[in-house]
Amino acid sequence: MNQKSKIFVGAMSGTSVDSVDAIAVKFSSDNKKSKIIGFVSESINSKLQNKIRNFSSNSPFAAYTEIDFEIGKLFANTINKLIKDFAISPNDIQAIGSHGQTLFHAPKGAFPTSIQAGNPNIIASDTGITTIADFRRGDIAAGGEGAPLVPMFHAFLADNNPAIAFINIGGFCNITIFSKKGVDGFDIGPGNYLMDFWIQKKDGALFDYNGNWAASGKLQHELLNEMLSDPFFSKTPPKSTGFELFNSSWLNNYIRKNKYYDEDIQRTLCELTAKSIANSVMEYAPLINNLVLCGGGTYNSFLVKRIKHNLPNITITDSSEYGISPKELECCAFAWLAKRRIENETNCSCRVSGAYSDSICGGIYSPPAKKRNQKIKST
Ligand SMILES: Nc1ncnc2c1ncn2[C@@H]1O[C@H](COP(=O)(O)OP(=O)(O)O)[C@@H](O)[C@H]1O
Ligand SMILES: [Mg+2]
Repeated sequence: MNQKSKIFVGAMSGTSVDSVDAIAVKFSSDNKKSKIIGFVSESINSKLQNKIRNFSSNSPFAAYTEIDFEIGKLFANTINKLIKDFAISPNDIQAIGSHGQTLFHAPKGAFPTSIQAGNPNIIASDTGITTIADFRRGDIAAGGEGAPLVPMFHAFLADNNPAIAFINIGGFCNITIFSKKGVDGFDIGPGNYLMDFWIQKKDGALFDYNGNWAASGKLQHELLNEMLSDPFFSKTPPKSTGFELFNSSWLNNYIRKNKYYDEDIQRTLCELTAKSIANSVMEYAPLINNLVLCGGGTYNSFLVKRIKHNLPNITITDSSEYGISPKELECCAFAWLAKRRIENETNCSCRVSGAYSDSICGGIYSPPAKKRNQKIKST
């Protein structure tokens, strides 16, 4: 390994199940000179998307092994494409940080766990590069939520500036706040997940482009207030959530009470995301003057307009000001978490997760001896 050129790769597939994203980054110690070398995004085919979306804790074991294998292969192919497209020498990559695809997240269940599919042994074998994966269960074993994991990376980017907060709007939404005591963060609730679900069900579109459909509807205040009364929104952090709570049954429970137009429901779901973000900022970060957005929801212009409307006194920007586009940021975080793991530095803060201790999370998967330092073949 050439220690002078420490490239780290981050690979991610979120709860939106839209794509596998991979990034290659060279980090500098204070981020000012960090350099993104390349980014690729490979869409997940609808057959695999459906397998993932239909997976539940009651699914047969074979359903898990199938997804674990297929997602592992897709991650490996995506990373090999990144290496090929940007002419990166695999020998210059120190490690891959793979989040995998969350299939189940129940850190406070009877048997606490969080399961990410995407066999890291396959990734290590097919790329010939050491792979770090299983980032969440170490923290859960220490009593934490295993989520959110990105706040320490946000702290690295913003140098713990207390005037700034970060909000990641993926399928679900999380916030990072800084104070004199350190970094704080928690899951706010649904980001794009329910909006995606509703438009997929009613229109077949993958997502509500720029929030145009939501913008055409009328906000249903009573429905919004009922949804906001879910105890998760008022629960004191640490807290994390996912589709185990905010799913089709959750939504049906509210919308079956009255007859609403489909577009009014979409409008109200959009406001649910905007309003829950604004409520969290006002309660937990009242003194910030800059809110930095990242994640795919940042491209939903109507949603961003509604966040601005709900937080009129705060400047709202996005992660591009740190040289990382909103769609790149989360996989960049996993490249950084892998770097911290390799360097045996804390990469999971107990202030955020509620664990009894900070942790160095992630298992290390080495490639087979014959694959190390081997030139990657295109797939
Ligand atoms: N132009 C856009 N308009 C509206 N929504 C968008 C747009 N681009 C991306 N999105 C939203 O972002 C989601 C993907 O965000 P992402 O950060 O990848 O989430 P995850 O981490 O859950 O995969 C899409 O499912 C969609 O809801
Ligand atoms: Mg995604």
